[in-house]
Amino acid sequence: MPSSTYFSSFMLMTLTLLQLCSATPVPIAMPADLAADCLPVKPSAAAPVLPASTLPTTNLTFAYVAIGRGVQNYTCTALNTTPVTGLGAIATLYDATSLARTNLPALHLIPGQAVNTPPTAAGYVLPPQYRNLPLLGHHLFLSDATPTFDLNAVGKILYAKRLNGTSAPTNAPKGPAGTGAVDWLQLAAKTTYTSVGLSMVYRVETAGGNPPATCTTTGVISMQYAAEYWFYV
Ligand SMILES: *[C@@H]1O[C@H](CO)[C@@H](O)[C@H](O)[C@H]1NC(C)=O
Ligand SMILES: *[C@@H]1O[C@H](CO)[C@@H](O)[C@H](O)[C@H]1NC(C)=O
Ligand SMILES: *[C@@H]1O[C@H](CO)[C@@H](O)[C@H](O)[C@H]1NC(C)=O
Repeated sequence: MPSSTYFSSFMLMTLTLLQLCSATPVPIAMPADLAADCLPVKPSAAAPVLPASTLPTTNLTFAYVAIGRGVQNYTCTALNTTPVTGLGAIATLYDATSLARTNLPALHLIPGQAVNTPPTAAGYVLPPQYRNLPLLGHHLFLSDATPTFDLNAVGKILYAKRLNGTSAPTNAPKGPAGTGAVDWLQLAAKTTYTSVGLSMVYRVETAGGNPPATCTTTGVISMQYAAEYWFYV
């Protein structure tokens, strides 16, 4: 290889590495700088970035992303009335933390697909292409209406309280009933309970779960939904 070609290749490689490794672009640097920036590989990779919304952000330590798939429940007291919210929800939580770290666009496609996958005898399952995501736990409401996230696969539990909420984007997947996506939420540990290993969760990228405008039956109605739950320590 002629030395000029060798030099150009070296410079190209150097610049490519710089673009990959350096937060701020630097026009020229010596290999020693590259080593400081790149080697050894930084031990803790940056946390994935929570989808942007008007919800307040947090500086708490990122822990997990789960895909939740289940139902939001409402009460219909009489025909032609508006369904009453607040009854709660139940969902199965699947661990999508690895995908969140490697491919956020792929992660964000899951709720819209999962909401249209009907439950089976096995419960609220994900579409076939996502069944490699391991079970992380369950989302349920206690009898006093406390939203609870029991991540039994990792021995953690969050008893939560709603802090803030905002409408889902207008283009959010509407779910099989076409009723639209439930709000995005920020919830934090409720002080009257002892949570373990978790202090905050966001519900984002929601799909389905809204009630119909009016009741056509009476009793509890359950609306299919899916969402991403982002947990922080
Ligand atoms: C929700 O967060 C926004 C800021 O993002 C804030 O303006 C608003 O007051 C908060 N709402 C509640 C109920 O805390
Ligand atoms: C997060 O930390 C930054 C830098 O210390 C600070 O400016 C910001 O207000 C913090 N945000 C929250 C939500 O605590
Ligand atoms: C919601 O409804 C489902 C049935 O669709 C039921 O299994 C679950 O216990 C209900 N949960 C709450 C909190 O109402």
